[in-house]
Amino acid sequence: MVSYNIDLKDKTILITGAAGFIGANLAKRLLTEFEHVTIIGIDNITDYYDVRLKHERLNELAAFGKRFRFIKENIANKQAVEHIFDEYHPKIIVNLAAQAGVRYSITNPDSYVESNLVGFYNILEACRNHDVEHLVYASSSSVYGSNKKV
Ligand SMILES: NC(=O)c1ccc[n+]([C@@H]2O[C@H](COP(=O)([O-])OP(=O)(O)OC[C@H]3O[C@@H](n4cnc5c(N)ncnc54)[C@H](O)[C@@H]3O)[C@@H](O)[C@H]2O)c1
Repeated sequence: MVSYNIDLKDKTILITGAAGFIGANLAKRLLTEFEHVTIIGIDNITDYYDVRLKHERLNELAAFGKRFRFIKENIANKQAVEHIFDEYHPKIIVNLAAQAGVRYSITNPDSYVESNLVGFYNILEACRNHDVEHLVYASSSSVYGSNKKV
């Protein structure tokens, strides 16, 4: 059993990229292990890979009823992000909405600028403007430095 130094009791957790591989699994685990958390999941369901997988993950999460609320939205939409923070007052933010993949960026740079730069900036701004306790975000595995070849 992992010991946590963050009190999750009665907290609203906002997970961006909630239909994605990590986001959906994180949401499921938090909802399963912590009775008193509510999760707001945002995802705009990009078609970078088969969207049926994302809908299946969301269907699974729908089983948690009101404890999981899904919002189909783009985090690059600043007004929408602000509105979600105003409405739900999340205390913990996990930003996983991103365009992943290094090679894809060479042919589709726009989607990286939109999600990874503008979207992440909007999340940072919303955190700055609201009473947020914790922000967790993921980056590319390439950034962690495991690749010695530059
Ligand atoms: N999976 C891995 O092994 C791995 C390893 C290292 C880092 N990461 C990082 O973790 C994060 C999540 O990875 P993942 O594997 O879950 O990816 P994923 O592609 O499965 O999930 C990302 C989700 O974000 C959504 N999304 C993209 N842009 C969005 C936007 N502008 N607004 C709202 N939603 C948007 C997509 O629709 C997708 O469902 C990424 O930053 C990735 O680089 C993943």
